Amino acid sequence: MIEASAPAKVILVGEHAVVYGQPAIAVPIASLRASATAEPGAPGQGLKIVAADLNQTLPLNVDAGLVDHALLKTARLVSETHRRPLPDLTITLRSQIPMASGLGSGAAVSAALARALSAALGEPLELERLNALVYEVEKMHHGTPSGIDNTVVVYDQPIFYVRGQPIERLTIAAPFTLLIGDTGQSALTRIAVGDVRALVEREPERYLPVLSQIGALVREARAAVERGDAATLGERMTQNHALLQTLAVSSPELDRLVHAALDAGVLGAKLSGGGRGGNMIALVVPETVARMRQALERAGAVHVFETTVQ
Ligand code: PMV
Repeated sequence: MIEASAPAKVILVGEHAVVYGQPAIAVPIASLRASATAEPGAPGQGLKIVAADLNQTLPLNVDAGLVDHALLKTARLVSETHRRPLPDLTITLRSQIPMASGLGSGAAVSAALARALSAALGEPLELERLNALVYEVEKMHHGTPSGIDNTVVVYDQPIFYVRGQPIERLTIAAPFTLLIGDTGQSALTRIAVGDVRALVEREPERYLPVLSQIGALVREARAAVERGDAATLGERMTQNHALLQTLAVSSPELDRLVHAALDAGVLGAKLSGGGRGGNMIALVVPETVARMRQALERAGAVHVFETTVQ
């Protein structure tokens, strides 16, 4: 039996601007994962994927042309990369990560599946090839993703990411704690990204500077993370939220959670990911976690996750 997994992620600062070549920082959520378990199947059964949480079983005949399905596409890409037919195997997928809410669920499930399948074929994919493969699958969800989601999920480390440049792993001088508040509303990143593109094309003189300002905040946030300065990191996060509002990717629910967190005394708060729904994050002093969690729940968060970034 082979087991593999990949974490959820949040974007700490820089979403949307990262699509336009600005830097962004993303961190894995170690405790929230997608996993894949591979077991030998009956001779001749081919590859069977059991998506336990989705209540789905996919008897996989990868030649059947069903490649618009992300899981099937993942399996087919592994088989093509290794130039090997799919083995008689049953892979069970499980995920604790809410879907379509900016936590990288699609990338994590795809990474876990590709890891388990390539290991079962006797050739575990190394990180760079796995990352390129998961990026191909991500294109199905996002159109033209920046690549930040698949990279943080595959490398399972905090990253400073600039599109098309080598991955930089971030040094965390002092661990910090995030609360992740889920609005309970799913939102399609593809739509928000398209709407931002329309704004930028319509009024570049107004919106390109907003993207550069986000880039500048990200560089300052990086310096804060690298010297263990949580107060400055929090400020940059809150400023980033205001700029994301200017790009019209927040929502009344996200704003309500962000304001509730700030009123309760967090160090900083912002939406995270594509926006319009999904999740927000708040940087909290560890001793105040219980109180801040309550503030988020009272303001309407349907789930609150906690993670320590280190
Ligand atoms: O998948 P999400 O919702 O976390 O969004 C990814 C971040 C964006 O910058 C909005 C899009 C991208 O491709 O980088």
